[in-house]
Amino acid sequence: MPGTCVIGLQWGDEAKGKLVDLLTRHFDIVVRFLGGANAGHTVVTGGETFKLHHIPSGILNPDVMNIVTAGVVLNPKVVIEEIDGLRSRRIAIDDNLMLSDRAHVVMPWHIEEDRLLDNAPVDGETIGTTLRGIGPCYRDKAGRFLALRLGDLYQPHFGEKVKHIVEVKNRLLQSNNGHLATKLDATTIYSEYSAYAEKLKPHIRDTTSYLLDAMEANRQVLFEGAQGALLDLDHGTFPFVTSSNSSGVGVSAGSGVPGRWINKIIGVIKAYSTRVGGGPFPTEQENETGQHIRDLGKEYGTTTGRPRRCGWFDAVAVRYAARLSGVDVLSVMMLDVLSQLPEVSICVAYELDGERVDYFPSQLDALRRVQPIYETLPGWQVDITSVRAVDDLPANARRYLDRLSELVGRPVTVVSVGPDREQTMFAPDFVAKATSCQK
Ligand code: GDP
Ligand code: IMO
Ligand code: MG
Repeated sequence: MPGTCVIGLQWGDEAKGKLVDLLTRHFDIVVRFLGGANAGHTVVTGGETFKLHHIPSGILNPDVMNIVTAGVVLNPKVVIEEIDGLRSRRIAIDDNLMLSDRAHVVMPWHIEEDRLLDNAPVDGETIGTTLRGIGPCYRDKAGRFLALRLGDLYQPHFGEKVKHIVEVKNRLLQSNNGHLATKLDATTIYSEYSAYAEKLKPHIRDTTSYLLDAMEANRQVLFEGAQGALLDLDHGTFPFVTSSNSSGVGVSAGSGVPGRWINKIIGVIKAYSTRVGGGPFPTEQENETGQHIRDLGKEYGTTTGRPRRCGWFDAVAVRYAARLSGVDVLSVMMLDVLSQLPEVSICVAYELDGERVDYFPSQLDALRRVQPIYETLPGWQVDITSVRAVDDLPANARRYLDRLSELVGRPVTVVSVGPDREQTMFAPDFVAKATSCQK
């Protein structure tokens, strides 16, 4: 019955894809349960780099079933491109990929709306979305009247539904802006999406029932988080968040599996912090240090190519994210990126209106006002990319990891020192202790 989940504890891009790919061999099924093509998960293996947006990072292991569940907002065009791209690189995709018939479909109007609204500042700053139509699609899902699910693409009413929605959207988009580049055309959209539907047909399934059956039959399931806990719609840095529950609280809703079946949660963190797009970022370093981290960590978006904002590790934010997500253990990634720095800082508390606080404020105003209180540790200034055992790390690097663990309140059980599979160190008994695996 039990399952394991990997959740990012910052603002996304914590290297979840790398960890999920590494863990996949212990599991029968890998599940993507939220977000959509806003995600960009990188897996590096045998000198090849794979960037996955929709398809779970289990896909590189031919023995694993990959499932995209109801909580995802799915762009069929992107999925088809991804399937074709993987096949052209000799990755087999047949009955090892299932897409939920309940997943909502990102339609052309969602992308158009994302473009129009992203220029509009919220609280004086733009969100800086990935422009993948994520927010507008989730909004239509919650609104219900103008939504399309993957299963609808196969129904006789599909053409009528598109026609109706296009009429409404054309009115809304025009009144919103008046200079809509192209009017949406129902016939074109219908035939385009009917062709996508035909291509994806072999993969469409009631994944909720499949997963419930699989877990009842004790198959080993790994849930792959997307985005990060601080981008959670309800519990993140609202409104500078994504439009779904990207912390641990979203796993059950997105996948359709009872929360108490997911009994092991691995929190993934970078050894520092990054954020793409707008929003509060207390430990941001808009200086040489930030640029150094960006250069060495190649911190440019996997999906959009935008430079990521970079800063010191924020233990206040991560402790909050770990508690919210029910995290058992930590996986610390990109430790190598800090190797050249003479000193490394960790934010251990905030100063808010003259007082020291150790909680993560719920209000945007407060988050913008907090001043990080740093603890500075000596750096290690040694290349650690070839180290393969935690005990062989320089003493100062181990000290840094110990302090992160202490501040976040969770043990560090994985340490990553480079993008390759081999550049990863696992604590002894990691699989037995930190995952739900029984094989
Ligand atoms: P995800 O969205 O959480 O899967 O993360 P991304 O794939 O967007 O970003 C992580 C980036 O860091 C990718 O380019 C990875 O190949 C790379 N990466 C993963 N682990 C390490 C590491 O330990 N060190 C370094 N230098 N790069 C890493
Ligand atoms: P992975 O899974 C980093 C950010 C966007 C923007 C905000 C809202 O690769 O970690 P959206 O398009 O979702 O409406 O954008 O959320 N964002 C991410 N940042 N990694 C991601 O995914 C992200 N998905 C969304 O940059 O600030
Ligand atoms: Mg990413």
